[in-house]
Amino acid sequence: MSRRESVGTVAAMDVAALESEALSAIASAPTLGALDDARVRYLGRKSELKQALRGVRDRESGLALNTARERIESAVAEREHELRSAALQDALSAEALDVTVSLPGDEVHLGTLHPTTLTRRVVEDAFLGLGYEVIEDREVETTYYNFDQLAFPPAHPTRSPRDTFFLDEERVLRTETSPSQIHVMEAKPPPIYMVSLGRVYRRDEITPTRFPIFHQFEGLAVDRHLTLADLKGTLLHVMRALYGEERQVRFRTHFFPFTEPSIEPDVSCPICELAGCRTCKFTGWIEMGGAGMVDPQVFENVGIDPTEWSGFAFGCGIERAAQLRHGIPEIRPFWENDLRVLRQF
Ligand code: PHE
Repeated sequence: MSRRESVGTVAAMDVAALESEALSAIASAPTLGALDDARVRYLGRKSELKQALRGVRDRESGLALNTARERIESAVAEREHELRSAALQDALSAEALDVTVSLPGDEVHLGTLHPTTLTRRVVEDAFLGLGYEVIEDREVETTYYNFDQLAFPPAHPTRSPRDTFFLDEERVLRTETSPSQIHVMEAKPPPIYMVSLGRVYRRDEITPTRFPIFHQFEGLAVDRHLTLADLKGTLLHVMRALYGEERQVRFRTHFFPFTEPSIEPDVSCPICELAGCRTCKFTGWIEMGGAGMVDPQVFENVGIDPTEWSGFAFGCGIERAAQLRHGIPEIRPFWENDLRVLRQF
């Protein structure tokens, strides 16, 4: 008996048995692949059901077969949905993704510190380590603090408007950080250990080595029995912080109105280690600023007894120190704000 003949009567085929076989195969299909196999087996073109449907002759068997087909189809859809959501759950837990770690955050554009600031911080740290107070002082000074109290004689050339920026008869842009010495000594009694860092102004032409604005750091120590040896040890400490532990310091005699004796400290050239090179003009040493023992006249100006107290002071250019630290040949780049230069630090 051929199949075609057999479906002539649906009764010949046990629709209910077929349906329940199909439904249980579908419900227990473990994977989407197995489900598809079951679908093909029970609903495919060559399946018993489809063959029977094709041979349907009477309305009753048609209805029975179609109802079975619809139930099997919806069972497939239901199982497919189950398997897909289970697969999704598995994938979600297997590939658990911590979005707080994996997603890029807002980009932070880090800048760099200006070489003047970098060097200034080295100096500040070195002095904080010695127990010094770090201060920042005013840039507009009176001639009283900028000159008189520092014992500049009346005819000193720096008092001329050709050298100094005058705001009016009595006010100037400070020409050095030394007036900070006076302010601090007026403000409190010794012992004093302070360093003042900031801008100073001089009416210089702009050249590779000079600029009308630059930074200085100014130190002042007032205590009992301080000597040039204390000054030398202090400068040595700072020079080594700036240029490395191998540095040496030497003094040359000099003159400043507010120190006696006055000296100019040199640091051994960190480029050539005393051998002589272009940076140190083949001397092996580099001039680092001015210094000396506080002049008794200055102590008297601020009401400190020079027979009881002694002190030393020093002042150095910060750009100059930064130039040497970073091998920057000129002072101009410090003030030009060319980011291509500044980003290198
Ligand atoms: N103020 C001096 C200068 O600018 C440096 C200096 C500071 C000298 C302190 C002696 C003591 O040249």
